[in-house]
Amino acid sequence: MRVIITEHAAELAARATQVIIEQIHKKDNSVLGLATGTTPIILYKSLCHAYKGGEVSFRQVSTFNLDEYYNLPPSHHQSYRYFMDEHLFSNIDILPENTFLPTCMADEDALEQGSKYETLIAERGGIDLQLLGIGANGHIGFNEPGSSLASRTRLKTLTQKTLADNSRLFSEGEYQPDMAMTMGVGTIMDSRQILLIASGVSKAKAIKDMMFGSVSAACPASVLQMHPNVIVIVDKEAAACIDDKEYFDLAESKMQQLSNDR
Ligand code: PGA
Repeated sequence: MRVIITEHAAELAARATQVIIEQIHKKDNSVLGLATGTTPIILYKSLCHAYKGGEVSFRQVSTFNLDEYYNLPPSHHQSYRYFMDEHLFSNIDILPENTFLPTCMADEDALEQGSKYETLIAERGGIDLQLLGIGANGHIGFNEPGSSLASRTRLKTLTQKTLADNSRLFSEGEYQPDMAMTMGVGTIMDSRQILLIASGVSKAKAIKDMMFGSVSAACPASVLQMHPNVIVIVDKEAAACIDDKEYFDLAESKMQQLSNDR
């Protein structure tokens, strides 16, 4: 696990932007796994900026989002499709037909929808780089504590903790969905590379559990300890519970030095 501790969220976004652009430069038809939430907003802004400055094109890129609320149409302003269009897709040159979310409406079969999503990912050659946030309860995607570490895309019920954490995004009295389709932990683990970003002190314990806790469904993100190619980019606040921060700073400066020397 490569861990980069940044001074603030803006530096976090800049470093994460670099990782994504490098991936697209390496393979222009990259398959990216994408995330929603508050943390990626600043990253998407920075990617849009890089696109406008001619640093990167998404023309050949395909994307698969981690999750989508159950039974919310794409036109609904709380849907993750709406979020992605607003914060990223409509501001870059990606082809809309190459952007996918795991949807399921009430008249559809969730199992079937989940397995269709898995097939679509496989048909595009699998995910090259999966962007992840982390919940304060250690969830990745909407794989809440207790999720099978081998799970695939399916319908999940959200925990009270997640509903409370996300309630800030809904106005008073507004309907807040309590179920979502989500890539499984196993789906995420199949990605060739993983980039996890976290900002703020509310994520500090989850980051510590992910890095140093036992690998357990109690903290689904802890399974990333078993993945061979993970980059974690956090700000100082989210790194607050990491005991030996100096070690990770040293390791990262050595990695930087090596790549500058090349
Ligand atoms: P956040 O969500 O970026 O809004 O904090 C992350 C997550 O719950 O996965």
